[in-house]
Amino acid sequence: MKGDPEHRSFGRKRMRGSVQPAMSIDFQGKRVFSFATRQAAEMETLITQAGGNPQVVPSMREVPVDHHAEALRFADMLFAGWIDAVVLMTGVGTRLLIQSVSAKHDPSQFISKLKEIEIIALGPKPIAALKELGITPTITVPEPYTSADLLSVLDEDYPPSTRRIAVQEYGQKNPEFIQGLQDRGAEVLSVPLYRWELPDDIGPLQRAVGEIISGTPQPVDFCLFTSGAQVRHLFRVARWDGQEEALRESFKTICVGSVGPIASRAVREHGFSVDFEPDRTKMSHLVREMARRGHDLLLKKRVAVKNGIDTNRWRRTDMLWDASPLEITSPQDSVFVKACRRQETPYTPIWIMRQAGRYQREYLRIRKNVSMLELCQTPELASEVTLMAVDRLGVDAAIIFADILLVTQPMGCHLDFVKGKGPVISNPVRTGQDVAALRDVDADEFTYLLDALRITRKALRPDIGLIGFAGAPFTVASYMVEGGKSSNYVNTKTMMYQDEACWHRLMEKLTRVLIKYLNAQIASGADVVQVFDSWAGSLSPDDYSRYVFPHVKHLIGSLDKSAPVINFSTGNPMLLPLMKKAGGDVIGLDWRCDLGQAWSLLGDEVAVMGNLDPVVLYATPERIRSAAKSILDKAQGRPGHIFNLGHGVLPDMPPENVAELVDAVHELSARQPNR
Ligand code: CP3
Repeated sequence: MKGDPEHRSFGRKRMRGSVQPAMSIDFQGKRVFSFATRQAAEMETLITQAGGNPQVVPSMREVPVDHHAEALRFADMLFAGWIDAVVLMTGVGTRLLIQSVSAKHDPSQFISKLKEIEIIALGPKPIAALKELGITPTITVPEPYTSADLLSVLDEDYPPSTRRIAVQEYGQKNPEFIQGLQDRGAEVLSVPLYRWELPDDIGPLQRAVGEIISGTPQPVDFCLFTSGAQVRHLFRVARWDGQEEALRESFKTICVGSVGPIASRAVREHGFSVDFEPDRTKMSHLVREMARRGHDLLLKKRVAVKNGIDTNRWRRTDMLWDASPLEITSPQDSVFVKACRRQETPYTPIWIMRQAGRYQREYLRIRKNVSMLELCQTPELASEVTLMAVDRLGVDAAIIFADILLVTQPMGCHLDFVKGKGPVISNPVRTGQDVAALRDVDADEFTYLLDALRITRKALRPDIGLIGFAGAPFTVASYMVEGGKSSNYVNTKTMMYQDEACWHRLMEKLTRVLIKYLNAQIASGADVVQVFDSWAGSLSPDDYSRYVFPHVKHLIGSLDKSAPVINFSTGNPMLLPLMKKAGGDVIGLDWRCDLGQAWSLLGDEVAVMGNLDPVVLYATPERIRSAAKSILDKAQGRPGHIFNLGHGVLPDMPPENVAELVDAVHELSARQPNR
């Protein structure tokens, strides 16, 4: 063992200071426990490949119930025409069902009868089992989601009311799902095929409990669960030995991974918490993403415990970094803030526009229960989502979860975020009267945002910067005038060209509010602020100069100088020299320009942010790396480059590719210590 556990666990910093960066997906030889049974060998290989020291303790024994009888009962009901639909929960169960029926009935008759009813397959395994028989399910649920998710898919595609539905059950019964179907007016035939029991020899599980509790012969750093039964069995054995409480207590300082929502629920039901659940319910994703993010999560958890936080029942917003062993204790010295000031940094910092969003399962889960506006306006939730993105990605900055259009609400705009449509303002600002009616508001109208910043800054690692933001006056005005997104900005430009005085009054009013809005964010904990002029690229340089420039210059010039400003726009690199003149310590570039050329044009007095084409994130990890490298090469390691996409992440991007980009940038840019 080398040194203090906190330092050993902090892989990221060590990697960054060294000449030869370590692999990013690397458990660094740490002890990784798993209770996988059917896939024990595969799990062991995966952990070893990820640089871990695996300890795989099979925790289950599959006991078939009298599946012949159950399956035959199903077949009889099917032939009698009683069954409208069958829900297939597992691949093993699907095969068992069909094999058992085939022992008595003609398989082809059975299959053709099955094809007459609705076949609902949960996840890829039953789909594969059906495919072997030439059957295509009529409804599929892409991942093995929770009962609630499955029910909501059915509500949409096949409302259960009055239907007769057979449910192939497995392992432990699923009373919630059955109840959900019955509540919706379905008649349910349960077809249990096998169940999970403890293994015959529970010695290995008892020893595992002992090792986890005592931390000998080696402290346990990571524990991965790939089913709910694994959690239940581990705790059942601990309970027999009177060790349940001690086991729960030891999970306070172990980084816990869970493959998906069902296993996570079992973890919570047993009184401890999940530190990482991958976006895809796959064992390989669990292992890889834990090897990638686990060290930081473990550090965080152990610091939390030192600060008296009960990590078995905590939210991200509870975190305190007081007893932190980190070298950097002030965000002002963070790699991100230093890069914004063009100071030398040991590697190129990266964050991602829209790093918290619909491409993440965890975001979608939170968002399912609240509207976009509620999410933004509930400080604890906005902060939780902000911190979640950092936990999952390992980025160097957090951006407060909010939206550029929130500012328009107290000014008098009726703002809503409409599914499939984006932001809508139902009372657009089109006339001089409309402009005159807009309220000049103070920062206290945005207490929710300022509270979210305060909560986030307190819980966020001190060496990670916190970004506050606002839309630039033109981009916000374009939404106010158009009433939503627009392709040609006809109403906005018409106001500009036909009633210039009115246009400037609108821009002045907005700018006045935006100055207060951004300065209040700085006062509430934002280390850096970004001004998004996302749609300014629709203007010619002349029009930008005349209608936009004076307002942006006034805005940025009026901001508290303690926080660097990022001035970002997209679409028109010809505007860059004007943007620089308007102000900003950092100029944000989209992908349409060459970063090297753009930086030469701008000059060394500003830092630059950018500029990978977001669509590269749909490509392979190798392609993502090479694209990141070519951008880093253009920056040549000069101080003042912050890596980012040229615009935001898209909702259907593979989340693991976003994490891959973050690691690639950190590794490829790690500078030699003497530079
Ligand atoms: O992680 C982050 O970057 C912080 C959060 C953030 C959001 N919006 C959250 C959001 C930020 C920085 C913004 C800025 C924003 N909002 C801009 C400028 C940046 C850009 O992308 O150009 C603009 C133009 C808007 C306006 C806006 N808000 C649009 C066009 C949309 C619809 C987008 C879509 O894909 O539906 C929004 C809604 C919005 N803002 C979402 C998020 C996460 C999606 C909300 C949801 O349904 O969950």
